[in-house]
Amino acid sequence: MRRKIAAGNWKMNGLREALREVEGLHSANPNPDCEVIICPPATLIRSMVKTCDTMNINVGGQDCHENSSGAHTGDISAEMLADTGATHAILGHSERRDAYGESSTLVRAKTRAAWNAGLVAIVCVGETLEEREAANTLDIVGGQLAGSIPDAATAENLIVAYEPVWAIGTGKTPTLNDIGEVHDFIRMRLERRFGEGVGRSVRILYGGSMKPENAADIAAVSNVDGGLVGGASLKAPDFSRIVAAL
Ligand code: 13P
Repeated sequence: MRRKIAAGNWKMNGLREALREVEGLHSANPNPDCEVIICPPATLIRSMVKTCDTMNINVGGQDCHENSSGAHTGDISAEMLADTGATHAILGHSERRDAYGESSTLVRAKTRAAWNAGLVAIVCVGETLEEREAANTLDIVGGQLAGSIPDAATAENLIVAYEPVWAIGTGKTPTLNDIGEVHDFIRMRLERRFGEGVGRSVRILYGGSMKPENAADIAAVSNVDGGLVGGASLKAPDFSRIVAAL
């Protein structure tokens, strides 16, 4: 039985006053059967860890450097994230693959760094609209999976997020059948590479315009173990409804 996850990716949103949203989430009674992870901007991680301390909510970063320290102006290492009390790191988000040219090889190195620091890696994969229209979705997702995940994956240190690039922030989502096809494919690839025990237990999240209105339907699709939520995670009432739906 894989426990569902609702992960909020705040991206580059949120000043200190946004911490109040999380307090609102608590009073809105989130679902105890669902693991909740919030990934705020780096400036809020430490405060978020303190706010979430007694709330059964985990906190994650949105990226980390592949090295543990050194001359890397502006970067944050996985050890630094762990030092704040964060437990997770989103890695290989399409916005970073696109805007910073992050390759799967780099994402793999970052994932290894996250594991060395004791963090759970949330590794993102997903196709662009062009790639979907050219019927290349599974090739792209399969290649990103193979390239981005190191060999030492376990059910405890890895979460995979399938985020079709064209569905992020657009209000568009794939059909439930299309989501199921990709999630089944990811499951098959994980089982093939890491063995049935690990492959069956790694959680696979869907991300891309998940909202309170579509979360329950998406979460009912085979091999969907929750959501990685952008815009709708920024407001406590919306995120609470997604947590409840999952
Ligand atoms: P939206 O939910 O805003 O589409 O963003 C999804 C996402 O990129 C989460 O990582």
